[in-house]
Amino acid sequence: MNADRLHDPAAVRKARGAFFTPPELCAFVARWAIRSSADRVLEPSCGEAAFLLACGECLRAFGSGAPDERQLTGIELHQESADRARARLAENLLPATVTVANFFDCEASGRPYDVVTGNPPYVRYQWFRGEDRRKAREAALVQGVRVSGLASSWAAFVVQATSFLAPEGRMGLVLPAELLTVNYAAPIREFLLRRFSQVRLILFEKLVFPGVLEEVVLLLAEGQGPTAHFELCQVQGLEDLLQMRIVPSRWAPETPSEKWTGALISREAADRCRSALDQGIFQPLLDWGETYLGMVTGNNRYFTLSAAEAKSLKLPSKDLIPISPPGSRHLRGLSFSRVAWEEMVEGDFRVFLFRPESGEPKGAAAAYIRKGEKEKVHSAYKCRVRSPWWRVPVVPTPHLFLTYMNHDTPRLVGNPDGFWFLNSIHGVGLHPDRVEIGSEVLPVAALNSLTLLAAELVGRSYGGGMLKIEPKEADQLSVPSAALLQASREDLLDLRPQLSEALRGGDLPGAVQLVDRVLLLQHAGFQERDLTALQKAREHLFSRRAARGDG
Ligand SMILES: C[S@@+](CC[C@H](N)C(=O)[O-])C[C@H]1O[C@@H](n2cnc3c(N)ncnc32)[C@H](O)[C@@H]1O
Repeated sequence: MNADRLHDPAAVRKARGAFFTPPELCAFVARWAIRSSADRVLEPSCGEAAFLLACGECLRAFGSGAPDERQLTGIELHQESADRARARLAENLLPATVTVANFFDCEASGRPYDVVTGNPPYVRYQWFRGEDRRKAREAALVQGVRVSGLASSWAAFVVQATSFLAPEGRMGLVLPAELLTVNYAAPIREFLLRRFSQVRLILFEKLVFPGVLEEVVLLLAEGQGPTAHFELCQVQGLEDLLQMRIVPSRWAPETPSEKWTGALISREAADRCRSALDQGIFQPLLDWGETYLGMVTGNNRYFTLSAAEAKSLKLPSKDLIPISPPGSRHLRGLSFSRVAWEEMVEGDFRVFLFRPESGEPKGAAAAYIRKGEKEKVHSAYKCRVRSPWWRVPVVPTPHLFLTYMNHDTPRLVGNPDGFWFLNSIHGVGLHPDRVEIGSEVLPVAALNSLTLLAAELVGRSYGGGMLKIEPKEADQLSVPSAALLQASREDLLDLRPQLSEALRGGDLPGAVQLVDRVLLLQHAGFQERDLTALQKAREHLFSRRAARGDG
């Protein structure tokens, strides 16, 4: 570790999004971007000048000597990083101008650059606030792009960086792969297709930043747009990229802002997903009902209790509500019934939520509240902001539970006995006319290859290779339609004993195969080759995600 890093601890670097790009990746981008010895390069947020160094070397290789200092410009917020950038450029005999400034304060005036390159800061919106966020959003707005308040810093950065670029220039940026998927990046996806004539994305199956969990994509954009499509190349890691083992595939989103994840799968699989929706065989989960967050206690250790604990505290049942215990591991079957809950009572799981009835608590409940105060439970943030601190706001009991953080796939699980639930899972409240069939058949029917693939497309991959699905994303999950379930209901219900057994044994693929045969082949008119395409596509996305989990 060098001396600068000692004065620039990891947490501080994280707050300004300082992760440094491997030199091989910078060299690759530089070789793509630099096309003449006269090219002028800007690296906004240049850190220690990783890209300027690589571009400088390329310029030198093109020309007869070192480039002139007006050809290499860096901007960096952090004084020490800028000093280090200058020192490294000087060591490499590359004259350059590195300015200490907030890039969002810089205005594009004078001659535009032929190349804008770098790795912008990825600061999440929770940390990207106040003046910084205001400036960033304003800068993007000047370019006609409205960036949401939920966007990470990189989004506005891309737009601002483009304003420094010549119309026919090249932009090579390392961005978070969420560019393809998250809703807040929709205006950026749209902007890129509008501004550039060629947009190429390179995705890495393995993580390329040592020690950084963020999945990245390399954006190589050039020329004066618009264009209707982008190109996508998937490579394993840096080695493939350097050896040019890349095969681009073209993808034209239906609307420029829609998620681009579909580009990661075969055309056949993508078409099948789309046509199933068009034909009304599948529909978004939102058509079935609303997905919502579970209860937030502020301190599960205090508020959730096992039956034995509740008994020893002498808490009466009127002050307790029965819940699906914290976590989601127990939700692997088709439904979470009273029998399953009672088994968890026996297993000493936290099956109750402490929630005194309205009015002033008395007796054992009052004593338990005093105990909480003694243990400072009431000063936890979520408890502090409600009154009284011990009354957890309840949300309606859902018809279905949806597990949202999974290694394999989100599970829709029936809740026939109406248990309450915490925010370790989501709930789905079905529309009144769909309650009966939805509660009974949807958990079975959702175990099909198309829905499994759709989950990979709408969800986001999370640390450790997990797939996370937020309520808004769950709304878009393709599940079989009510019409298809009416038609296949009896056959699907007949499968339940076999399915339950497969799921108990942890055999998800076996369960999916059973449902695919009945639902997709017998009732939905799918062919074997459709199934193969869907399964392959899902397998591909699943292994990408799992590979990233392995680091
Ligand atoms: C992800 S690092 C990338 C550094 C370098 N481009 C690289 O790839 O190695 C992001 C850099 O942006 C700088 N930075 C963060 N916000 C900035 C801003 N508003 N203006 C200029 N630089 C900024 C950080 O200090 C950090 O050095």
